[in-house]
Amino acid sequence: MLEIVKYPQRILRQKSRKVKGILRPEIQAFVRELAETMLASDGLGLAANQVNQNIRILAVNTKAGPQVFINPFIYFRSFKREAGEEGCLSFPGVFGLIKRSQRVRLFYCDEKGKIRHLKASGLLARVLQHETDHLNGVLFIDKVVKYIKGEEQVKEWMSQAKADEV
Ligand code: CO
Repeated sequence: MLEIVKYPQRILRQKSRKVKGILRPEIQAFVRELAETMLASDGLGLAANQVNQNIRILAVNTKAGPQVFINPFIYFRSFKREAGEEGCLSFPGVFGLIKRSQRVRLFYCDEKGKIRHLKASGLLARVLQHETDHLNGVLFIDKVVKYIKGEEQVKEWMSQAKADEV
């Protein structure tokens, strides 16, 4: 199992780079480890930079089991949004309400390097938006409309992050 990076470590704020050579053994091994780490941590999703790799790969726990999204690109987000509860493995004990598009459409590559298309709605759409945000250095605390749990902790971490910048 890979170690999960916690906020405010800087890699969580970096934009991840596109993956080239999906069939390379090190990428293949990483993809498996990412999915395993997500499952072992009881996460609905996990982005590569949350395990210290600055590359555009996500693992998402779908109804059909763990699924990997390489170089995902959300090209459509529904105008209609809904608020839902989210947490994040990089923010233990923090939960908040976030507004996300109810439906999204995306292109991505699977672990065999094949280009795929997906229409997602509801929870899957929410998780995909949360995880693709990670690849751009965007975190759910940037979008929270109301904290459910852990607001004080987040404030503490944020001041720590500011102190680290200096
Ligand atoms: Co997250």
